[in-house]
Amino acid sequence: MRQVLGNATVELAAAEFAALRDRHAGLLLDLGAGDGKHALAVARARPDVLVVALDASPDGLRRAAARGAAKPARGGVPNAVFVWAAVEQLPPELAGVDEVHCLMPWGSLLRALAGPDPAVLRSLASACAPGAGLLITLNLHAWRPPVPEVGDAPEPTPETALATLGPAYAQAGWALTGADRPGAAELAALGTSWTKRLGSSRAELAVLALRGRLA
Ligand SMILES: C[S@@+](CC[C@H](N)C(=O)[O-])C[C@H]1O[C@@H](n2cnc3c(N)ncnc32)[C@H](O)[C@@H]1O
Repeated sequence: MRQVLGNATVELAAAEFAALRDRHAGLLLDLGAGDGKHALAVARARPDVLVVALDASPDGLRRAAARGAAKPARGGVPNAVFVWAAVEQLPPELAGVDEVHCLMPWGSLLRALAGPDPAVLRSLASACAPGAGLLITLNLHAWRPPVPEVGDAPEPTPETALATLGPAYAQAGWALTGADRPGAAELAALGTSWTKRLGSSRAELAVLALRGRLA
């Protein structure tokens, strides 16, 4: 898989990744990791978990990847790996993921998760271990007015999301178990840069959290 290391992009061999995975108790995938801040924060808080921050655009990852690659005494985070890949083409060596986070997806990632796209949901499921947890936070402003990626799907709400999205997720092996509007404190704790950006520019911060599990 293509690993972002500061300004460089290197090939991380499957065996090297597997060895890294084996040294950790768990594997968390941050899909559409953006600037990598959430991934770094999770990796710092949970040193026993290997955190893979994956994004289709490598440039946003570079600063966090450089920070993570520093020596631990200088704030480095050895359990964070930054990967350049699109969700539509997940690296085949990414396997046994125990937890997936996808915060504020946009573009084709939003289309895949909110559409949803059964092929992407299935491929994500096949990268995961049974029982893997799923957390998606959707920026509801994508429906206000609707961006092309959400098509004519109505804005999901805590009351409707499980009924409208649940069946497609279930067909791909995912059980959606909850949908709620996370509070400001929970969003701040996630460390996504996007809620900060939205919070500063909009009167209402409209986010829907979808929670689930691989059956
Ligand atoms: C709004 S940003 C959110 C970034 C980060 N999760 C956060 O909350 O700060 C959406 C991210 O999704 C990434 N993205 C869009 N389409 C993608 C795809 N098909 N596969 C992987 N990442 C994708 C973009 O490059 C971008 O970094």
